[in-house]
Amino acid sequence: MVKGLLHLLALAAAASASVSSSGQTLVVNGINYYAAPEAVTAISATADMLTSASRGTDIDLIPLTVMVDSSSQFTTNVFPTLVSNYTASDDVFNVGFLQSIYLTHSGSAPATVKYPLGAALTEFGTKFFMPARAYTSSIQSQGYNFTGWRTAVPAGPYFMSASTGEVFQAYRLYSDVQGAFTEGLKPNTDGSYSILSAAIPGAQSLTIGVPSKMYYTKTADKPLAGVRVGIKDIYDIAGIKTSCGNRAYYDLYPPRTVTATAVQRLIDAGAIIIGKMKTSQFANGETATADWVDYHSPFNIRGDGYQDPSSSSSGPGAGIGAYDWLDIGLGSDTGSSIRGPSEVNGCFGNRPSHGLVPLDHVMPLSPNLDTAGFLTRDPYLWHEAAKALYLTNITSSFKSFPRKILTSGFPTTRDNEADSILVDFLSKLQTFLGAPTPTPITLSTLWSASAPAAAGGASLSSYLGIVYPVLISRQQYSLFTLPFHADYAAAHQGRRPFIDPVPLVRWAFGQNNVSADASVQALQNKTVFMDWFASKVVLPSEETCSDSVLIYVGSDGSSNYRNVYFSAPGPPTGFGLSRVSPLSEVPDFVFPIGQAAYNSTITLKEEYLPVTIDIIAAKGCDGMIFALAEALTTAGILKIPKTGSVMY
Ligand SMILES: *[C@@H]1O[C@H](CO)[C@@H](O)[C@H](O)[C@H]1NC(C)=O
Ligand SMILES: *[C@@H]1O[C@H](CO)[C@@H](O)[C@H](O)[C@H]1NC(C)=O
Ligand SMILES: *[C@@H]1O[C@H](CO)[C@@H](O)[C@H](O)[C@H]1NC(C)=O
Ligand SMILES: *[C@@H]1O[C@H](CO)[C@@H](O)[C@H](O)[C@H]1NC(C)=O
Ligand SMILES: *[C@@H]1O[C@H](CO)[C@@H](O)[C@H](O)[C@H]1NC(C)=O
Ligand SMILES: *[C@@H]1O[C@H](CO)[C@@H](O)[C@H](O)[C@H]1NC(C)=O
Repeated sequence: MVKGLLHLLALAAAASASVSSSGQTLVVNGINYYAAPEAVTAISATADMLTSASRGTDIDLIPLTVMVDSSSQFTTNVFPTLVSNYTASDDVFNVGFLQSIYLTHSGSAPATVKYPLGAALTEFGTKFFMPARAYTSSIQSQGYNFTGWRTAVPAGPYFMSASTGEVFQAYRLYSDVQGAFTEGLKPNTDGSYSILSAAIPGAQSLTIGVPSKMYYTKTADKPLAGVRVGIKDIYDIAGIKTSCGNRAYYDLYPPRTVTATAVQRLIDAGAIIIGKMKTSQFANGETATADWVDYHSPFNIRGDGYQDPSSSSSGPGAGIGAYDWLDIGLGSDTGSSIRGPSEVNGCFGNRPSHGLVPLDHVMPLSPNLDTAGFLTRDPYLWHEAAKALYLTNITSSFKSFPRKILTSGFPTTRDNEADSILVDFLSKLQTFLGAPTPTPITLSTLWSASAPAAAGGASLSSYLGIVYPVLISRQQYSLFTLPFHADYAAAHQGRRPFIDPVPLVRWAFGQNNVSADASVQALQNKTVFMDWFASKVVLPSEETCSDSVLIYVGSDGSSNYRNVYFSAPGPPTGFGLSRVSPLSEVPDFVFPIGQAAYNSTITLKEEYLPVTIDIIAAKGCDGMIFALAEALTTAGILKIPKTGSVMY
């Protein structure tokens, strides 16, 4: 008894109270915000001045707008111009932040404030107006001693403590109603990240926070300044756990201490990482119903909202299709994990040439096939982000775009709405490139006619049909599954973790149904195919990087409902166009080109689904395809898709 009590007391003495703020949530004009816990600056003003800012409220954190003006005289005319500029350019700013204003000057001194500003300030409910020292007619005349602030911060909405004058960044909070994220993130001052500790009441969804766009200015060093990025949850981020789409895995390992190189390059270029995004389990291909046991598959907003979002970068795909406040998703593509979600969620997406960026601190599926790429609506931003991610590896040199188009399985007649869109696009592309009539090809026929002796006369499908499932199952099993199982067993008295049906059946195939040297064979077959493809189908070219582009249909507006039961999963055997890029290491990019109507069995109305194409070029010609996407957009042939049910 006494001993127990002493023990308790000892514990109490050893435990020291540790309390820190993880930020605060506030509502400004009906919109939910988060005030980050780290002060970015402090305004030195007298206590009575600060108190005046919080008049009529008992909340210490009050909305503050830092205004930056370059005119020599701040008048009642300048004021509303700035306000409408801020409103138009930033989704985080709202006029409720004009409750207090700190006015700074960016032009040449001297500048003055033309008092009285009475009516202009009253209109916005401003209780506290403070011009910086650069203004000659300073606030001293009103009996205050105002000395300025500790560190200059950019214009924009903030929160200011009425008791200390400390200023905090404002994040607007959005609900992840499509279930695309696994957590919202915010950066810490030491380069690591924390989970955003904010929740919008009543949303039944995760809450994601985005900082004001006004805090960031694009520069040569920071080309992605302020760009909001979501990261597929197979990339490590320091301070945050990685789930790889498995609850047991998430639970087992502590927060990571290192950020994956691919993610770090985006951060270094100024990108804002706003959250981790859903992946199917261990980045294996899963359909929405039944396969997603551990987590719920994200919702594809296109059409009736109940179409499969595809797999495995489905979180980034669903988010890019739905959220204006998300600019880019970083995904990964082993078998079609970026292309599939881009096709059905209606966005641009790139499977890059293999090996453009190191994949350290990223979950492996098959290192010989794994790639990192983007999903986005904006082709200009896409190229900018790719330069930050791949650095010198996408400086593909080309003097002009290829003037030869190959097609495979492409429609030639306008039998339905999707075919018309596809045929129109091809014709515009042909004109744009100054290419002759596109050449339809069938890979299996070409192969039969020109296969290398090493293939021993095997058909393309028997030569390549199990290369993909062999590589992913055997490599993921040895590199990832075995250590995971061992760590889990050690922590849980020898138990096995739960695994979804799809990865389980794939690993079983790799362990039970193929010979021990299958991976070696698979790599040999892959190499033979890769060399054949680069010498007989799409060839490198000095002038155009790739002698041709190979175009095929990505999505044609067909429905694929998520509330449909399929048969039990098996290994992903077989060969098709989507396997060309993984096995030959060439880039394969998705361009959204239109939308086609279908009659939804859910809404009983006509809805629209994406029509997309895939474009393949020679290995290392990624830069050329990015440039082509930009040029086609500038020419009006490609359009930036909108978020929501309809793309255009
Ligand atoms: C408002 O924005 C426009 C367009 O970006 C710019 O030309 C103008 O200078 C801005 N006005 C002020 C007062 O900053
Ligand atoms: C302003 O500062 C001066 C000099 O430090 C001081 O004498 C004066 O009392 C201050 N005025 C107010 C209103 O705080
Ligand atoms: C470029 O690609 C090569 C080959 O995969 C790789 O070794 C290198 O790390 C990459 N360079 C950069 C800057 O990522
Ligand atoms: C794998 O082998 C088992 C046992 O021989 C067999 O029942 C199963 O059908 C095989 N699966 C595949 C995908 O080949
Ligand atoms: C590689 O090709 C050979 C020859 O056609 C075929 O028998 C074998 O199944 C293939 N192996 C793998 C692992 O793809
Ligand atoms: C949808 O159904 C209506 C009524 O049957 C039909 O007229 C229309 O063509 C259908 N639309 C599509 C895209 O199939």
